[in-house]
Amino acid sequence: MADSKKTILITGGAGFIGSHLVKHFVNKYPNYTIYNLDVLSYAGNLENLQSIQNAPNYKFVKADIVNYEGLKTWFETIRPEAVIHLAAESHVDRSIADPTAFIKTNVLGTLNLLLCAKSIWSDAADWNRFYHISTDEVYGSLGEDGYFTEQTSYDPRSPYSASKASSDHLVRSFFHTYHFPILISNCSNNYGPNQFPEKLIPLIINNILNQKPLPVYGKGENVRDWLWVEDHVSAIDLIFHKGILGQTYNIGGASEMKNIDLVLLLCELMDEKLNRLKGSSAKLIHFVSDRPGHDHRYAIDFSYLTQQLGWKPSCSLRDGLQKTIDWYLSNSEWLQKVSSGDYLKYYEQHYLQRV
Ligand code: NAD
Ligand code: TYD
Repeated sequence: MADSKKTILITGGAGFIGSHLVKHFVNKYPNYTIYNLDVLSYAGNLENLQSIQNAPNYKFVKADIVNYEGLKTWFETIRPEAVIHLAAESHVDRSIADPTAFIKTNVLGTLNLLLCAKSIWSDAADWNRFYHISTDEVYGSLGEDGYFTEQTSYDPRSPYSASKASSDHLVRSFFHTYHFPILISNCSNNYGPNQFPEKLIPLIINNILNQKPLPVYGKGENVRDWLWVEDHVSAIDLIFHKGILGQTYNIGGASEMKNIDLVLLLCELMDEKLNRLKGSSAKLIHFVSDRPGHDHRYAIDFSYLTQQLGWKPSCSLRDGLQKTIDWYLSNSEWLQKVSSGDYLKYYEQHYLQRV
């Protein structure tokens, strides 16, 4: 399949994970024409794609997946043979402040894409496929033990995870109802270069750099599993090409950590890199009021993906954090640009309420 000429639509390709995925596909598969469709919200940034912007097999389309008519015209004209769907509102805190945008983009936007693809794939070719990228947050919150498997019942607890769960259900319903060719993966927290500094790791790096308080929600006891973004991309590549249609695959980083320990580790690594006195960044840690409905722990059992397709994460959390910090230190202009304007307003409002 990788040798044949294909037209592939990637949605949300100007965002964090999407931009890594678009670059990977454009570089690795010269026979594929990759369309990146993105509305360029606050989280979308074409600078993430500078290295491939002039590649002959890459095209950018500015469009909103909520706009069904525009999407339909585009599908009927270009007739992509496969879709990898990442476009979404992706930040839990924003979903708590304004759930409506999450329902529009994550639920209605996904339905629009499903309908458009279904209308042009009525005679589904062998490898027409709609690959939906989702999150482990749909499974809810774990106690101290246990892992999410592909069989874990859905129990979303934030407007963000509820909107993603809803989109997963819609995608799966198309498989059962219309024999529509779908794939789904649910992964843990990604980190790496180009992540918008509203998410924990880049926010802490940015604040250490600028010697601003490091906001830790509650007591910092919540646990997340961290997945190096390039490992996520390699899993998506495998699942896209070799996954069984109709299946769901869990993807994890095998790197669980309490938030406070992660923040302390970032402080230690940054003190070293910035030649600051050992312990000086940790003094910036500030415990702030907890996120409402804060999920306690996420942890992923990805053994099905390992057994079926031989995938495993390749990068340890410490190495991944070193690479991430190095990237942010060498791209301070990128960080400054995305941290101004709208984001600054959001940041001031959001953290003013928490302190
Ligand atoms: P992101 O917020 O960095 O990027 C989202 C992209 O979608 C942006 O480029 C934005 O402009 C675009 N977009 C938003 N609304 C749109 C609309 N209406 N029409 C077209 N484009 C629109 O997100 P990310 O962190 O790269 O996440 C990508 C996907 O992976 C999402 O579906 C998210 O739910 C999922 N996911 C992310 C993580 C994570 O840790 N970041 C973990 C699990 C799953
Ligand atoms: P985040 O990066 O927003 O991802 P998610 O909510 O999808 O897991 O948050 C990761 C963890 O860090 C989560 O438990 C909330 C916590 N957190 C803080 O303690 N302080 C912060 O400023 C942010 C943004 C998150």
